[in-house]
Amino acid sequence: MKTALITGVTGQDGSYLSEFLMGKGYDVHGIIRRSSVDFRERIAHLEGKPHFHLHYADLGDSMSIVKVVDKVRPDEIYNLAAQSHVQVSFDSPEFTADVDATGVLRVLEAVRACHLEKTCRIYQASTSELYGKVEEVPQNENTPFHPYSPYAVAKLYGFWIVKEYREAYDMFCCSGILFNHESERRGETFVTRKITLAAARISQGLQDCLYLGNLDSLRDWGYAKDYVECMWLILQNDKPEDFVIATGVQHSVREFTKLAFHHAGIELEFEGKGIDEKGICVKGPDGLIGKTLVAVSKDFYRPTDVVNLWGDPTKAKAKLGWNPARTSFEELVKIMVDHDMAKVASEGAAAKVRMNLAEYLEKGIVK
Ligand code: NAP
Ligand code: GDD
Repeated sequence: MKTALITGVTGQDGSYLSEFLMGKGYDVHGIIRRSSVDFRERIAHLEGKPHFHLHYADLGDSMSIVKVVDKVRPDEIYNLAAQSHVQVSFDSPEFTADVDATGVLRVLEAVRACHLEKTCRIYQASTSELYGKVEEVPQNENTPFHPYSPYAVAKLYGFWIVKEYREAYDMFCCSGILFNHESERRGETFVTRKITLAAARISQGLQDCLYLGNLDSLRDWGYAKDYVECMWLILQNDKPEDFVIATGVQHSVREFTKLAFHHAGIELEFEGKGIDEKGICVKGPDGLIGKTLVAVSKDFYRPTDVVNLWGDPTKAKAKLGWNPARTSFEELVKIMVDHDMAKVASEGAAAKVRMNLAEYLEKGIVK
């Protein structure tokens, strides 16, 4: 039986990857941080299963990582832990650098300190944010990087240190350059989940209006459940290589919003430009028609924004046999809205409290 160690196991990808690896017969070990609340919603259904184990460690604390790596002695490490929110990286650039850049080095050094460099394969969660202020479209493994946020600059270090250790110490370590991937487990302050939750709340009378930032921003959105398979495939390859993982299809934040509201039973028409743009209800429940349900707020603009991400997954298709078209954009939006319609219906008024907290967090009012 193979043993895998996952950092970031409580996150969106960590939870899906745990399920995927357990399905493949792996013994799965996850790293969790100590916190004052013991609430791990995304992995609650896995806790207590015979091949799922949790260990306390923090990517900011080398010794804690060395101890877990030495105890577990994994065949594969998936380094998914990160401060993963781009907007937050402008508010907490130093913390982001410590976890997303130096944290990667700590994982690599832990493997060397435990003398596992010849046996343990390492996957690094890299990102399309490296392309940042994009220099060509679509982006592939040869496209120049131009990071455009503190998060992306930290992740660039992670990418290069993985490459360096591969070449310097002949380690099997690789980066998956993953484009945005979403799901019903996505954090509530990322734009897709913010939209699907708002569409559900507005249609159920629990929210008046959704405030967003740049509606023109373009993303290549895939389904997280499909993407975790690629992380595994990258480590099963004959040699260590980096791969772009994307759908090859691009949509704007505005398109995502229109489709999400459509699935919630509301048709929107957008009018105006920039900060004055509004999404008005033209069809839907009585009482909403003619109302502004989506508006733009400067609070959600970023000092520098990445606006044109579009991935080319040709290499992953050819070398890993990965099918990027498994879940379409339309299906993804529907999965998320259906989930959030049911969630909001069951939470009722509590959903409104969660909305206010998520909005304050994103605006940086609550840190
Ligand atoms: P996520 O839901 O935000 O999960 C992040 C995980 O990292 C959480 O488990 C979090 O633990 C953990 N973490 C944060 N700081 C830590 C620390 N100091 N020590 C240990 N653990 C820490 O992110 P995700 O969407 O699953 O993404 C997974 C990885 O892929 C991240 O590295 C992200 O940057 C990268 N990525 C994501 C996407 C995407 O579209 N989702 C695309 C490209 C790359 P807590 O639960 O304790 O906070
Ligand atoms: N979060 C957020 N909230 N984004 C908004 C909003 C809003 O109200 N309005 C517009 N946007 C725009 C952002 O400016 C950005 O251009 C785009 O929507 C996507 O934002 P996010 O969903 O926050 O994701 P991201 O692309 O910045 O980062 C995610 O994907 C990266 C891969 O490209 C994260 O998962 C990163 O960890 C990941 O590396």
